Amino acid sequence: MSSSVLAASSPLPAVVVEGPQHARAVEVLVDRAFGPGRFAKSSERLREGNHKLDDCSFVALLDGRVIGSVRLWPVTVGGKRVAFLGPLAVDADERRHGLGQALVEAACAAAAKAGWPAVLLVGDAPYFARMGFSAAPVAQAIMPGPTDQRRVLVRALAEGGDEGLAGPIRAV
Ligand SMILES: CC(C)(COP(=O)(O)OP(=O)(O)OC[C@H]1O[C@@H](n2cnc3c(N)ncnc32)[C@H](O)[C@@H]1OP(=O)(O)O)[C@@H](O)C(=O)NCCC(=O)NCCS
Repeated sequence: MSSSVLAASSPLPAVVVEGPQHARAVEVLVDRAFGPGRFAKSSERLREGNHKLDDCSFVALLDGRVIGSVRLWPVTVGGKRVAFLGPLAVDADERRHGLGQALVEAACAAAAKAGWPAVLLVGDAPYFARMGFSAAPVAQAIMPGPTDQRRVLVRALAEGGDEGLAGPIRAV
């Protein structure tokens, strides 16, 4: 797959695979988007000590500046491996232009290509439902910490990929 999902040479933002050179800017962006409470989230328990899926994590660049980020991580749900999405963040000045959705779609496409059966996340259903995420298939999936179960969402990437997702969610 080309690493550029949106046009890289136009004035539009480019969505590209995150490289090591982007890591610091991603941290700053995510800190700004979520504030100091970000490390207290249950989702963080699935990221600490884990390694992101490098080929499935993307940044949005505008004139070389990181203005958006999404990362995927390997987790298991009751023993079944799925990709866990988060954090997703877009610079406050660059929102409502479709970048958040473009980042999610890029991550899901890369995960599908890599053979992941489903993408799981904790987020607002009204936002993620338009991208094919739903809560029902993961009603029995248990986050490692207090979580509103209605915010645990999944999108199948393959036929039946969202089936049998019950039990504890753990970092791989
Ligand atoms: C959520 C976020 C990534 C969306 O980025 P974005 O580039 O603006 O997203 P898109 O352009 O694809 O979608 C924008 C639309 O989603 C809506 N939207 C954004 N967040 C929403 C939410 N939490 N619930 C419902 N709708 C939401 C916007 O109002 C907008 O609606 P419109 O198309 O009718 O104008 C961005 O607002 C952000 O970084 N927020 C702070 C961090 C965060 O909450 N991340 C998600 C955690 S699960």
